[in-house]
This record gives sequence, structure tokens and C-alpha cells, in this order.
Amino acid sequence: AEEAPKLTVISAGHMIDVEKGKVLDNMSVWVEGDKIIKVINQNAKIAVPEGAELINLGADSWLMPGLMDSHVHLVGSPIYGYDAYQHSLGRQLLFGVVNAEKTLDAGFTTVRNVGAEGFMDVALRDAINEGDIPGPRMLVSGPALGITGGHCDSNMLPYEFHEKAEGVADGPWAVRQKVRENIKYGVDVIKFCGTGGVFSKGTIVGAQQYTLEEMKAIVDEAHMAGRKVAVHAHGTEGIKSAILAGADSIEHVSYLDDEGIKLARKHGTWFSMDIYNDDFILQEGEKHGMTEESLAKERAVGLRQRQSFERAVKAGVKMSYGTDAGVYPHGGNGKQMVKMVEWGMTPMQAVVTATRETSKLFGLEDRVGMIKEGMLADLVAIKGDPLQDLTLFEKIGFVMKDGKVYKNTLQ
Ligand code: ARG
Repeated sequence: AEEAPKLTVISAGHMIDVEKGKVLDNMSVWVEGDKIIKVINQNAKIAVPEGAELINLGADSWLMPGLMDSHVHLVGSPIYGYDAYQHSLGRQLLFGVVNAEKTLDAGFTTVRNVGAEGFMDVALRDAINEGDIPGPRMLVSGPALGITGGHCDSNMLPYEFHEKAEGVADGPWAVRQKVRENIKYGVDVIKFCGTGGVFSKGTIVGAQQYTLEEMKAIVDEAHMAGRKVAVHAHGTEGIKSAILAGADSIEHVSYLDDEGIKLARKHGTWFSMDIYNDDFILQEGEKHGMTEESLAKERAVGLRQRQSFERAVKAGVKMSYGTDAGVYPHGGNGKQMVKMVEWGMTPMQAVVTATRETSKLFGLEDRVGMIKEGMLADLVAIKGDPLQDLTLFEKIGFVMKDGKVYKNTLQ
């Protein structure tokens, strides 16, 4: 006879309902296999079947959907400058194994990894999905597309080394070929660099990279294959061109103007803005070997990006929760919640952004992002009220992914 899937009943003093944007008290969530089958008040007169596992997180617990991050770099060298060259792809992937666990442990159950050489991210995603190692559900991009000498190329060595990042492609047909290649090797999403950036040598943060024609070719090719497109863009023109090309999300979005806001609203484009990053880079960057060129660029964009975030939020642009963890240590993904409230969101809006909203950008809104019957059981909980104290998002005490408990320090 077939064994019935295991039933687990999780009870919490409070539950953040991100669908309605309110807090419900004394709730129980029934989980069968990997799915949520019931969400009810503890006083409801429904008998819990015999043999169910009961997890009572306590009166002072706050339960919510698993958190999501739309911009992470789990694989790769954690150090900056020329020291990074000592790490082989294999070593970089092993950093990824450790980082994946740290991320899940921090309560982030779904993440999007945007940019990795050697399809290390595909390997990591598959190992997690097959249950070999613990980690978040991952959407991955493989090598990020970029112009020769741009932010997504590698520009640290002189000419005779002929160094070139794997995603480099110039011209509409070359970029189409690169998109097809990435899809061939298993990516979920396409990432390209649409402007210069902070952590690349010799690029101007505000300057556009790729022509509109090339951007359109990338997006067209990706969309034909059902893949979304995430675009690194700090500069005004790059942001607007990427939106016009039909990109699904713009990452960073530092030098945003009014027209950019209007275009994003018109096209339904998501913004994924890593507004915690600046604190870490300016306070700890030098110690971590970040170059003076990068630090100087950061001093120019940091505040500007936060002001752009505030204006985008006010204007009602669709926002996801993207941190660029990897620039700063993995597991600290929750640190950005405080910043988002400092720069214009309500605490509830920040939680909704990091769950339900980000799941929409991922195209996973039917499976994750809400605590609702029929959804996958990705749940996290905190001791204390995180809407009063946003720093509690750095102290997630309970983590369940796909109905499996990974962490429970609350009982
Ligand atoms: N990966 C990004 C870049 O190199 C990081 C930008 C970090 N700075 C910031 N203010 N968000 O451009």
C-alpha cells in the first residue's frame, strides 16, 4: 500500500498575510508533502489527524512566506581585484555550495543568480533540486551577455592574454547566438549588461552598453524561448533603452530620470535595486581588496541610487527584492529590509516585495510567495515582530522549503 504523504502542522502566534497585506493572529498552516493544504485560525474546530507532526513556533513567532532575492551571485570568487584570479571554476563552485546553504539558512528560499561562468549556477541549481545539497530554489542565467570591454567582460589583463568573459558578444546575430547557447546549457533567465558598472575595470557607470538594436535582439530571442531578461543598468540611457527593448527587470537603476519612471510604468518593467550594498562597499570594501576605481565609482552612485529607489517606490513602479549578495557576504540578504523602509516603503510593503512581488517577477506566483492552499510550503518565521523591528529579518529562526524543515531554533 502507498504511504500517505506526511502531514505537518505549523502553528504561530502571528502570520503575515502578504496577499491581503495584513497580520493574522494564532494561525496554523497544514503542510502535506511539499504543499500547503490548509491555512486556518487555531481556534477553528478542525481536528488535527492522528500522526501529524506538530510544530508550535510559539506566541511570539511571526510566520511568513519564504523570502526571495532577485539578484545574487552564489558562485564565484568572494574576493576582489587580481587576487580573484587564484580561484578555479571548481573552487568558485564550491564557494557556491557553502553560499547556497548560508542563503537558505537566512530564510531566502528562492533566489535568482544573475551571471556565472562555466554554467556553475546550472550545476548548483541542479544539485539543490536533486537533493544532494541544501540551498534555495534557484533561477539561473549562466554567463551574462556583454559587449567587448564592458561591465560583463573581464578587463583586468593586458592584450596579450586575450582574456574574454564567456558572455561577450557584439552585434544582433552574435547576441542571439549567445542567448541560444545559454538556453542550450540550461539557463532559466537571460542577463545582460546594459551600462558600465562599479566592479569592472575601465567602464563608465553611467554609459550605455549595447545599442538598442542589440538589446532588442537579446530580448526577442529570450522571449521566443520563454525566458525573461534581467539587465544590469545604472545609467539613464541604458535603463531607458533596456525598458524600450522589452526587458523584464532592470538591476541597480541608479541614474533614473522621470522619463525612465514613466517608461517602466508603461511597460510594466520591474526594478531590482540593491540599495543596502553601498553601506558595505564604502565601510568594508577597501579591507576586502576593492580597487580605488570601484570605490570612487561607488561614492558617485550610492546615494543617487537610493534617491532613485525612493522616487520609483513613490511612483508605483513594480519592485522586486534584489540585494546583489556576493558583493557583500551571503546570508546577509535580509539586511536590505531596513534600507527599503528608510527609503520610502512601509514595513508591510517591504515584506510583500520580498515575497509575493518578487515571485511575480520570477513567474512563480502560482507556486511560491504566499501562504496559501495549493502553494509550495516555503515558510520562514522570526521571534518578535519584524514589522516593528526590521533588523529581525537578519535573524530568521525557522526555515522550511518544499515542506522540509531546514532550520528551527524557535521551539
Ligand atoms: N554589481 C554592481 C556593479 O558592479 C554593484 C553595484 C553596487 N553599488 C550600489 N550602489 N548598488 O555595478
